[in-house]
Amino acid sequence: MTAPTTAAPARGRTHPGWWQEAVIYQVYPRSFADADGDGCGDLAGIRSRLGYLRDLGVDALWISPFYTSPQADGGYDVADYRAVDPVYGSVADADGLIADAHALGLRVVVDVVPNHCSDQHPWFHQALREGPGSPLRERFHFRPGRGADGTAPPNDWISLFGGPAWTRTTDPDGTPGEWYLHLFAPQQPDLNWDSPAVQDEFRSILRFWLDLGVDGFRVDVAHGLVKAPGLPDLGHREQLALLAEKRVPYFDQDGVHEIYRSWRTVLEEYPGQRIAVAEAWTDTLDRTARYVRPGELHQAFNFKFLNASWDADQLRELVALSLDAMRAVDAPTTWTLSNHDVVRHATRYADGDPARGVRRARAAALLMLALPGSAYLYQGEELGLPEVTDLPDEVRQDPSFLRPDGGNGLRDGCRVPLPWSGTEAPYGFGPVPGGPAWLPQPAAWAALSVEAQAGDPRSVLELYRSALSVRRSHPALGAGRAVEWLDLGPGVLAFRRDSAEGALICTVNTSGRPVPVDGSALGVLLLCSAEPPSAVAAGAAGGGAGFLLPADSTAWWQAP
Ligand code: NOJ
Repeated sequence: MTAPTTAAPARGRTHPGWWQEAVIYQVYPRSFADADGDGCGDLAGIRSRLGYLRDLGVDALWISPFYTSPQADGGYDVADYRAVDPVYGSVADADGLIADAHALGLRVVVDVVPNHCSDQHPWFHQALREGPGSPLRERFHFRPGRGADGTAPPNDWISLFGGPAWTRTTDPDGTPGEWYLHLFAPQQPDLNWDSPAVQDEFRSILRFWLDLGVDGFRVDVAHGLVKAPGLPDLGHREQLALLAEKRVPYFDQDGVHEIYRSWRTVLEEYPGQRIAVAEAWTDTLDRTARYVRPGELHQAFNFKFLNASWDADQLRELVALSLDAMRAVDAPTTWTLSNHDVVRHATRYADGDPARGVRRARAAALLMLALPGSAYLYQGEELGLPEVTDLPDEVRQDPSFLRPDGGNGLRDGCRVPLPWSGTEAPYGFGPVPGGPAWLPQPAAWAALSVEAQAGDPRSVLELYRSALSVRRSHPALGAGRAVEWLDLGPGVLAFRRDSAEGALICTVNTSGRPVPVDGSALGVLLLCSAEPPSAVAAGAAGGGAGFLLPADSTAWWQAP
């Protein structure tokens, strides 16, 4: 085990808990870097690129699951929570990765998947083998079917990947048996969190990785662990989308909070500010805030911000609601634009025009990084990668796509391996030009590789590097609980952040046209996501001399 770093405060003021302002970079291990050339990313690949992340200027990595798994859902179907899947390496590789990251001043957050395991987990095997009445069945949700012969599922819940959320088992004697619950794929049986064995096992799993030195956990489906007593029918057969914001009997039940209070106790046993971040889809931000009350988890993802349109009024409303909700429980707000489950934001914001998508993605990044709190980046957004929308059906692996009654199964398009260098696929993702990659990369990605963008001041990569560097050194950026809103007219979102050592103003023009604004209060331009705003003559922007904010751009100003 290596001790987590206690990095020196980047700014000249009291350093809050690191998570209060950290920029955390999500690594999707399958698609980040492939050291052994089998076409699939691995821990050795991540280890070899830690210098890149340090130079980018992030504080921590969150690594999606790399545990032993049949990969029915990209590793979110875990068969052994204390082992690394051979495709990714070994526990020794994880240990080495954590040590190397700490030596570079980077923290490491790993995924924990407590709502369900894999149908290849030894508990589930044993539960099936032993048949009805087995104590192992208490660790899952096994129920008899409905109807005279039990052929109908126990209730009307629909899996998030399509089809019934129940699958019927076959008893050891070969006859049709009970059904088991799986909110996701049939290969992901839900665990029963009323079982003390399940509760003990997960506290032990947390300790296993904490002992190895991880700095925290991203809690998968944190809102799903507890189901309403009696597993009541929904009364309709609507399939929820991932990140759906609805209250249903299997999500956001009050009982989940007891679990997180117990996990917080485990985290507090360790030195060095170990944290947990909830992936909790809730119907309101106030419900999200309940996961980060004192004594519970440290952060929760802000999916409302991720789902917002590129519109100044909507963004302002969501930012204000987010800050208010988290301030009420004295927790930091988080901001994120993309992850491995959603269409990349350069494409979401494009409205059919890829160049517009990149312009807005650049502007959104500067908005996110200027807001108070912690930001999560998804690998490849710093390269401006678009969604890959033309993957052939035969290469797709999203379980939702593969189910005949599944949803749109669109998640492979944001998981295409990263382009690092060179002009031939896999563009440095693997060690050999012309070598394999588990999903094909578009030919256009040669121009988007790290190598192609590094040193080009107009590139998305250099914009991220500059923004993260300013964020690290500017006293008004990073942790905080509030902003001061400024009114610069329609289509412009503007706010000011103050500190004892200096203030920063952020202006975001979400309109598709340049907007003249009064420049008297803005100060000196620090950074802009587009060409620097040009000066406009006195009068054009109201009173005194002003600036023309470029269409779909964000600028940071050193406030007077
Ligand atoms: C949320 C994860 O982000 C997603 O990738 C996964 O499919 C589901 N949880 C189920 O674990």
